[in-house]
Amino acid sequence: MSEKEHKVSRRQFLTYTLTGVGGFMAAGMLMPMARFALDPALQAGGDTDFVRVASVDELTDEPTRFNFTIEQEDAWYTSDVDRVAWVYREGDEIIALSPVCTHLGCTVNWEGNEDYPEQFYCPCHFGRFEKDGTNVPNTPPTRPLDVYEMEVRDGDLYLGRTVQR
Ligand code: FES
Repeated sequence: MSEKEHKVSRRQFLTYTLTGVGGFMAAGMLMPMARFALDPALQAGGDTDFVRVASVDELTDEPTRFNFTIEQEDAWYTSDVDRVAWVYREGDEIIALSPVCTHLGCTVNWEGNEDYPEQFYCPCHFGRFEKDGTNVPNTPPTRPLDVYEMEVRDGDLYLGRTVQR
């Protein structure tokens, strides 16, 4: 093999190697983007319908835990997902709060600590929220509990996805 042929083949080797590495990296970046674009479950809130949770008549001014199941669809399958809401009523207004602590995602409970009556309590890092879901200053959560989108139809309460405030 001549010196010239040797240089060309080394250059070719580098070209093939860099092309291969570049292509691999590009694929690694593009595949999650493509999945996000195609998969509705990964888009904000996913595809969630409203589900009947309670009769408005059974709501009181005391936050009450309601368990319900939503059917979540994405491009490839449908699955049942369990949800929880803390719901109460003040006059004509209904408040439905997510139980997911806005610190690191543990579950809050109404009056979960006897030292803090009339508040939601998160046992993981002692996070606290007021009855309306507002985070108590100087506890770990830095924003209020999310609220459920809701509809009232024929005296029944339907909940949809959660939204940040
Ligand atoms: S997860 Fe609730 S206080 Fe940390």
